[in-house]
Amino acid sequence: MELLKQLEKRRAYRAIGSRPVEKEVLVRLVEAAHLAPSSANNQPWRFITVVEPEVLDTLKGTLTRGNYWAKKAPVITAVVTNPVWSLQLDNRDFAYFELGMAAMAYQLQAVQEQLIVHPIAGFDVAEAKRILQIGTDEILQTLIVLGYPGSIEDLNEKHRDLERSLRIRKPLNEVSSFDKWEAKLFPPSK
Ligand SMILES: Cc1cc2nc3c(=O)[nH]c(=O)nc-3n(C[C@H](O)[C@H](O)[C@H](O)COP(=O)(O)O)c2cc1C
Repeated sequence: MELLKQLEKRRAYRAIGSRPVEKEVLVRLVEAAHLAPSSANNQPWRFITVVEPEVLDTLKGTLTRGNYWAKKAPVITAVVTNPVWSLQLDNRDFAYFELGMAAMAYQLQAVQEQLIVHPIAGFDVAEAKRILQIGTDEILQTLIVLGYPGSIEDLNEKHRDLERSLRIRKPLNEVSSFDKWEAKLFPPSK
């Protein structure tokens, strides 16, 4: 599949079924993530793939109410870094940038494997770190919820509508310019 088409296919869908995901598939997702580039090849990304039902259920207890749709998912992957594990220059902590690139490769491989894959920020981070035994210095940046497609009937009305809606993006010229910075690149003031 053409890369742009593959990128278009990735959407943060929420209808995820409970069918387990094969271990070899889950390993391929991490393999894909681990091919990401990083400054000085620091590889500051860490992935904790949670599939064990008891740990998974406890982790799901940290989700915000709005993330109820993740409750059926058979896998949640914790995406972790530490800013000191990669280059720190001026006010730039490259670990986060590199973690993001790895997380995107992880998601694209998941799409290739016919999975629904959805990163979330909405969970109790301190509690999730405690459950997964992640150290205080490490940053649990996001949880990635994934599984094979489920039924949109399990979603609330707003999420059902979103599932069927067109993708929302700002026009390209509001996020890109040629040759110099332009005022149009500032987000509209709120
Ligand atoms: C870091 C991050 C955190 C997110 N957190 C949540 C979340 O807590 N709950 C949720 O339903 N969606 C969450 N999303 C999904 C975004 O809302 C979604 O990516 C965005 O609306 C764009 O839609 P698209 O990914 O389908 O193109 C998150 C996405 C990212 C990248």
